[in-house]
Amino acid sequence: MYTGERSDAPEQPSHVAIIMDGNGRWAESRGLPRLQGHKRGADRVREIVEACPDLAITHLTLFAFSTENWKRPPSEVIGLMRLFRRYIKKEGARLVAEGVRVRFIGGREALDADLRALMAGLEMQTAGNDQLHLTVAINYGGRDEILRATRRVAEAVRAGRLLATEISPEVIERHLDTAGLPDPDLILRTSGEFRVSGFLPWQSAYSEFAFVDTRWPDFTAEIFAAQVRGFARRERRFGAVAG
Ligand code: IPE
Ligand code: IPE
Ligand code: MG
Repeated sequence: MYTGERSDAPEQPSHVAIIMDGNGRWAESRGLPRLQGHKRGADRVREIVEACPDLAITHLTLFAFSTENWKRPPSEVIGLMRLFRRYIKKEGARLVAEGVRVRFIGGREALDADLRALMAGLEMQTAGNDQLHLTVAINYGGRDEILRATRRVAEAVRAGRLLATEISPEVIERHLDTAGLPDPDLILRTSGEFRVSGFLPWQSAYSEFAFVDTRWPDFTAEIFAAQVRGFARRERRFGAVAG
């Protein structure tokens, strides 16, 4: 949560959010089907999750599927959904054992019931964990998130539970998918694109950004650590004067 107060510049980002981009180009440049890139990309997640404790990262948020990604060919969408199921089934027990708390953000209604059940199951199984807070964004779009939050706030006003004048940044935050999570300190995008594609617009108001050329399937713990170290050299002023 952004408090509007200046905090001491942290040496390390405690919340890193990653736009995992470049799977398709990784595959295409090798003459492989795009899904091979997604498969390899999904396999990279474990190493990055496991690198977090040594880097003092307590929160990791991953952008896996955007509200716009439904525009892709049905075969690719189906393949991605299959990979999400596979990831939860294959990695779930390990995440539970490693003390990772898993949350999913994004609109769930559009997802198949069996996938939604797997997601809810993993959230429940890991609800007591706090070694690392892993948040996975599936069918996530920042505008969609703010829209859904606005509808809920409007409904609270309509029902008389809230006055319009009581709507504050904290009220908005409580209604976002990320309620209870800190804002990301660092947002990293792979594969050389300089845009955010709808990722965490409210939460990233004061985030630092890093863009790396490496495509997600080639992303390693070493590259991750180098970016995190690069963050430590930045000065965050939050609108105030350098101290
Ligand atoms: C990121 O890789 C994964 C998703 C968006 C689901 P892309 O599939 O966007 O890969 P490129 O950008 O086409 O290379
Ligand atoms: C953003 O990547 C979404 C994810 C990484 C899940 P895209 O590849 O979908 O974004 P654009 O189309 O390049 O903006
Ligand atoms: Mg892309």
